Order: sequence, then C-alpha cells, then structure tokens
Amino acid sequence: MLFRQLFDTTSGTYTYILASRRGGEALIVDPVLEKVDRYLQLIRELDLNLVKAVDTHLHADHITGLGALRDRTQCVTVMGEQSGVDVVSMRVTEGDKVEIEGVALDVLYTPGHTDDSYSFLLPDRVFTGDTLLIRGTGRTDFQNGDPRAQYESIFGKLLKLPNDTMIFPAHDYKGDTVSTIGEEKAFNPRLQVKSADEYADLMNNLKLPNPKMMDVAVPANMHIGFAQEDVARRGWSVAAEEALSLIDRSDVVLVDLREKREREKYGSIPGSLHAPYPDLRENVSKGGILYELAATTGKRVLFYCAFGERSAMAVQAAQTAGIRASHIHGGIDAWKKVSGPLTH
Ligand SMILES: [Fe+2]
Repeated sequence: MLFRQLFDTTSGTYTYILASRRGGEALIVDPVLEKVDRYLQLIRELDLNLVKAVDTHLHADHITGLGALRDRTQCVTVMGEQSGVDVVSMRVTEGDKVEIEGVALDVLYTPGHTDDSYSFLLPDRVFTGDTLLIRGTGRTDFQNGDPRAQYESIFGKLLKLPNDTMIFPAHDYKGDTVSTIGEEKAFNPRLQVKSADEYADLMNNLKLPNPKMMDVAVPANMHIGFAQEDVARRGWSVAAEEALSLIDRSDVVLVDLREKREREKYGSIPGSLHAPYPDLRENVSKGGILYELAATTGKRVLFYCAFGERSAMAVQAAQTAGIRASHIHGGIDAWKKVSGPLTH
C-alpha cells in the first residue's frame, strides 16, 4: 500500500494519502486548504488519481481542502451523516465502507469531540481524527462535543481494537506521528480513568481557549458544497418535483451515479441505469456506454446521485463530451423529500 502522512505546521494537522498501487486510485483524509497544491503535486508525482477526499469531522482549526480538491480533481467528498456541512458528495454512517481501488476503510462512528466525528479503520491502522490523539484526546467543549460520548467511542470502540493497531490522528502538537492502541491504553494520561463520570470531570475542567481559526474555519467548513447553481443557470438542472414526471418518459434515461452500496442502502429510482461515478469519464467519451446510448437513442440523460454533487459534475463532463444531459438537483435526498418512488 502507498501511504503518506503530511503535516500542516500552522494548524498541526496530519493529512493522509492512501492508494493500493502506483498509477491507481487514491484517497485523502483530512486535507488542509492551504496545502492543496502540495497534495496534488505529490499525487501527480506518484502517478495517482484522487477519487475520494474524506474529513473525519467538521474542523474548527483549519479550513478543509475538500471543496478545493473536488473542484480541481472532480473527486468525491465524504463526511459523516451527522455533519453540519451543506453538501458533500457522500455521507457515511457506522458500518459503511469507504472504498477505492484496492483499499476499503471501515467506518466507525466515534462522536464526542464533535457529534460528527468518525474514525476510519484498515486492518492494521485506524485514522482517529480528533477522537483519540497521541497521549491526548480531542477537546469536547464545543461543536456539540460530549465527554461521555467520547468516553464510549474510545473505551467502547477504539480501545477494543487489537493492541498493535496503529493510530494515526488528525493532529499532533508535540511532534509524535504514530502510536498504537496498546501504547495509548497504557500511557495516555486522559485514559487512566475508571468511569465515564471521571472522564467527563477531567474533560470539563481543561479550560482551553477557543482555537484561533474557529470563527473563520467553522463557517467556511460548513459551506463547501459544489455550486450546483452554476449548472442550474445553464439549464442543466431538474428539480426533484419536476423529475417525478420524467421517470416514465421514453425520451429520457435516468442514470444513477452512486456506488452499489449506496443503492442497496438507500434504494434507487425505478427504471434507472447504474453507471458509477468513478467510471464517468470513460462512459461519456466516444465509445463509452453513455456516449453511445445517447447517440444511438437520442435520449436525454438525467443523472442523479446522493446529494446532487456527483451528478452536477457529471452533467458538465457529459455536456463537454457532447451529450445532452441534466441532473436531479439535490439528488436522492431531494427525491425523498418529494416522496419520489424508490426500489430496493
Ligand atoms: Fe477537531
């Protein structure tokens, strides 16, 4: 596996790039906006194709690189279901998997530092965000933090992992880069408590100042959604309500861009074809299945996905390739709100 740990000195943030091979798909965890050029340079140097960008939670100390990476690489942005962010391409919950070619991260919901804090697990390592740090734990005094929830996340989930599981946190301020579950059990001063109450007492009396960037970073990080308005302005957007009347039309073909896992979990629009977003570029180019389908049948392609991000990007790619395409604004999320039919 290709694995890179990158550091932002300003915010003390660790960012991770993962891939199964040179020339293959890559995923990035907790990117920092100011470092996006550096990540993209490294990704190019390693001959990787960035397909997913994941934030462990809504950060308060730096502006996320998720939006910029999506705009520059058309990658899929991923956050937890509870996150207050306006739009991400994909939301995950406990038990899901975040997959790229040759790498599958198990999703663990580990709230406490924030109510949208997730950890991402590989067989030998875990990305703990700010839930469990090296010889520390993430503060619980803002962003719906809750020391008791954090105690449960740490003692009930993370510390149950094998002792030799490596821990890669989102931050470190002392220069440590990696630890293990066993090491933290033994030496993390915050974990030497006998109960959730004792842990809550400890966390409620830290008296930390708010992060310097908080007033800037939190609002910025809540508005990273792809500007679907631009696509709408060009007339390539269909409101969910309007889409209801299009599903039985013979001159329209609905195309679901989500992953198989999302289709199974949330259902899909009856009669729609499945053409996952990672294959989009291939599918809309000459000889590709969507290109040929549109060319031979003259049908208009109506893309949809979970929240309208992938489909908005797909419309742009398809139109550029000469395909008459539009998308359902807001995706399945909006479709559900107008009681659109779904098959499971
Ligand atoms: Fe944080």
